[in-house]
Amino acid sequence: MKIWPLLIVVIAALGAGSCAKLTLAWADLIPDGPAARPEVLAGFGSQAPITSLEAWTEQRKPVLKDALQANIYGYFPDSYQLTVLDRKVLDENAFGGGRLEEYKLRAQLHFGDETSETEIFYMDVVTPAGDPNAPVVLIQTFCPRWDTLPHPAIYRPEDAGGCGGGAVTGLMTYVFGRYIATPPTEVILARGYAVATIYPSEFAPDRKEKGLAALKQMSRGLAPDNQRWGAIAAWAWGYSLMIDALEQDAEAPRDYISWGHSRYGKSALLAAAFDERISGVISHQSGTGGASLNRQKKGESVKAIIETFPHWFAKAYAKYAGGGEDMLIDQHHLLALIAPRPVLLGNARRDVWSDPNGAFRAALGADPVYKLYGSQGLDQGRLDTWSPGADLAYWIRPGTHGVVKEDWPAFLEFLDAHFLNK
Ligand code: GCU
Repeated sequence: MKIWPLLIVVIAALGAGSCAKLTLAWADLIPDGPAARPEVLAGFGSQAPITSLEAWTEQRKPVLKDALQANIYGYFPDSYQLTVLDRKVLDENAFGGGRLEEYKLRAQLHFGDETSETEIFYMDVVTPAGDPNAPVVLIQTFCPRWDTLPHPAIYRPEDAGGCGGGAVTGLMTYVFGRYIATPPTEVILARGYAVATIYPSEFAPDRKEKGLAALKQMSRGLAPDNQRWGAIAAWAWGYSLMIDALEQDAEAPRDYISWGHSRYGKSALLAAAFDERISGVISHQSGTGGASLNRQKKGESVKAIIETFPHWFAKAYAKYAGGGEDMLIDQHHLLALIAPRPVLLGNARRDVWSDPNGAFRAALGADPVYKLYGSQGLDQGRLDTWSPGADLAYWIRPGTHGVVKEDWPAFLEFLDAHFLNK
């Protein structure tokens, strides 16, 4: 069961060691260092400072995308095709009044002249009755689909484990909060949003050996190996695959919101930076390799993350294990690539491992790009003045790492402010 190693690590860390000290610490509620440097619109490498929106979109964005892939995440495929192998309605009245459907999917990837393909994987989607074009919250979690959307008709391979049920769920929700495995789907549907989910480990397993083997296999043809993508990028691409499947019979343009917690919070941001079809992001406690700056890093260091999760990133990220102070690219660039689309960065005050202050300073660093688009961007000078209608919205609550009962109401406030009856 894939959740056990994570649980054991966290529980052990709560009892002893540096993580415990961090868990007992509080994030400052005012920016505790300079905003991201260099300034997001300043010169970048050999490129001149950006003075217009056109220069940002035409010149700077492609350079930043390349730098993110080369230095942190590894390379996405040059192109790909998604095939819907099967699609069926499982229940016309699920989760208090939604239509539940299941897609069977496979993707072919092209890197240069090479082609490879993913394992077969599945997507489950529940849509509010009578509203086939409702905005869709695209959800990936470290629990399988049948835990995210618990329903007996959802396909589950015979030997599949899961997070759901019994003592494991009890312990997990005790440690990581009520919504860690299962979002409040009835409430989300009733508020007017569809929910779609894949289990990203179905095509890019979240394991060192197995994950790396799958990622290498998927990116074969790419030489040298140090350009292969990491699992964070593969899972980010997973959000795009979900949209590809949903778009095949979309009757009208829809809003797609990538939602992810922690490691999938990193992927949800990366997905939006690379896929303009994503209209908004809810990235909760994404931390290192997500919203938090690499420079002046608190909490989890680059060194710690690449040692524990070598399959998550490009090999090149290891260059910054010494501290990241010499990095030209940083996480404010990732946020800036999403502008002017709405982003919610979720945080918790005692989740210092995820460096909430570094995420706030990254948002400050990305803000000038939102302003370049004429968007209001960040609407708060400190971490706790929640403004859900802002395009760069920053949420912090008391407590620790997880998805707890206060979180989804805040997420829904943000969604309503930006996507309801638009
Ligand atoms: C670990 C890891 C974090 C990650 C988290 C999660 O704590 O260090 O970077 O965000 O797992 O995904 O739960």
